[in-house]
Amino acid sequence: MDISVIGCGYLGAVHAACMASLGHHVIGVERDPERAARLNRGDPVFFEPGFAEMLQSGLAADRLHFTTDVGTVAGSRVHFLCVGTPQRADGDAADLDALHTAVNDLVPQLRPGDVVVGKSTVPVGTAQHLAALIRRADPDTALVWNPEFLREGTAVDDTLHPDRLVYGVCAEVGHADGEQTLDPVALLDSVYADQLADNTPRMITDYATAELVKVAANSFLATKISFINAMADVCEATGADVHLLADAIGQDPRIGRQFFNAGLGFGGGCLPKDVRAFRVRAEELGATEPAAFLQQVDMINSRRPLAAADLAERMLDGRLAGRRIAVLGATFKPSSDDIRQSPGLATATLLQARGATVVVTDPEGTDNARKAHPDLDLTDDLELALTGADAVLVATDWAAFRELDPSWVAGLVSGRVIIDGRDILDRATWAAAGWTVATLGRPTLQFSPAVESAQVQNCRVGRVGLEPTTKRL
Ligand code: UDX
Repeated sequence: MDISVIGCGYLGAVHAACMASLGHHVIGVERDPERAARLNRGDPVFFEPGFAEMLQSGLAADRLHFTTDVGTVAGSRVHFLCVGTPQRADGDAADLDALHTAVNDLVPQLRPGDVVVGKSTVPVGTAQHLAALIRRADPDTALVWNPEFLREGTAVDDTLHPDRLVYGVCAEVGHADGEQTLDPVALLDSVYADQLADNTPRMITDYATAELVKVAANSFLATKISFINAMADVCEATGADVHLLADAIGQDPRIGRQFFNAGLGFGGGCLPKDVRAFRVRAEELGATEPAAFLQQVDMINSRRPLAAADLAERMLDGRLAGRRIAVLGATFKPSSDDIRQSPGLATATLLQARGATVVVTDPEGTDNARKAHPDLDLTDDLELALTGADAVLVATDWAAFRELDPSWVAGLVSGRVIIDGRDILDRATWAAAGWTVATLGRPTLQFSPAVESAQVQNCRVGRVGLEPTTKRL
């Protein structure tokens, strides 16, 4: 199949390379000439496991090309819209400018029988509007809304092996789409033949449902995280342990333990802006209670960096001025170089504003972080970041941070205080190595040299106790 992919950011570039790997001929249209040129050279532009190899093999097989010229897509039968829909600069709504430009540029290139496939995340109602535009230009074309659910870090696998395929199609009974020989569903089925052969569930819906599937899925995931973070606050107020709470309630298969980790909260280019744009759209539609609900999810999340900064301040006896803090993690999640809406960088900025000397390190994200936060001190050198630190904050759940040797780190720092913003450390091992381990929503573990055998104490005022994981000490 000859395919075009309009917009080659995270979503589009990965989609283009994956489609080429399935044997399709793919033209990627990217308005940024430098990005298009780099992709054409096989330079992956961003860090995404498996993407570079897939890009390079698509180029080598001559099945994948990138261009800035939308005119070259005439001749493709299926046109995927993959442009970004970021948060608007002047508010929380989605910015659809790039999407409208892409459709306006694409429409003159369409030929009878072409199918346009929307993958960008959009406010409900957008597809209906775009379908009318496309149909007006050529009634013998069709629009399908086919949201993308890929996660950064596993984008290639998510694209090749999706949990489900959703096709939002024109719901108007008697519309030309149904009467013509053009069958957009069959055409899209042949694009996704491999996924369908794998028994991937495929659901046909109207446009509005397909658009909502995406924002509702992301809002549910965001709600799950904000729920457990809200519980973390309650745990702190009562001396309970949010990790054990999540373990226990997550045993109920209706709740589940996945995506239920308390900490610094969700960041990235999707969850935060999708929840906000959905809230704005719900308000526009007069759905005030759903909008208020989404606002709470967002607010709970927005306060997590503040909670982490407060915890760090408490652990340093209420005095941040002149104290050195190593922040481990600039990216919003591991296996990515994406620093958009990074909770770790937000916390670093807060700590610095309160007078701390902050050094941030990350396995992949420092280049991007340097561009976006020239005010922060960033280093690729983990050892350098840790040297002389009065406290260490784990902000991203990279395996390299989870697996740190507490004794090695102890030899570098000035103070053995670690704030685990992602609840990933083996707390007992760290405490046994002389560290005070503070975790959002969990009792703090403190090594007490006064006690002869290594013993872990809860340093909360009025509460001393052992947690189950410390039994082996
Ligand atoms: C998300 C959706 O998962 C994906 O389906 C959609 O297509 C795009 O948005 P992504 O942005 O790649 O994907 O990140 P995700 O893995 O969902 O993580 C989002 C954020 O939530 C990260 O900052 C992560 O650290 C945080 N998170 C995740 C938690 O705070 N707790 C958890 O239990 C899980």
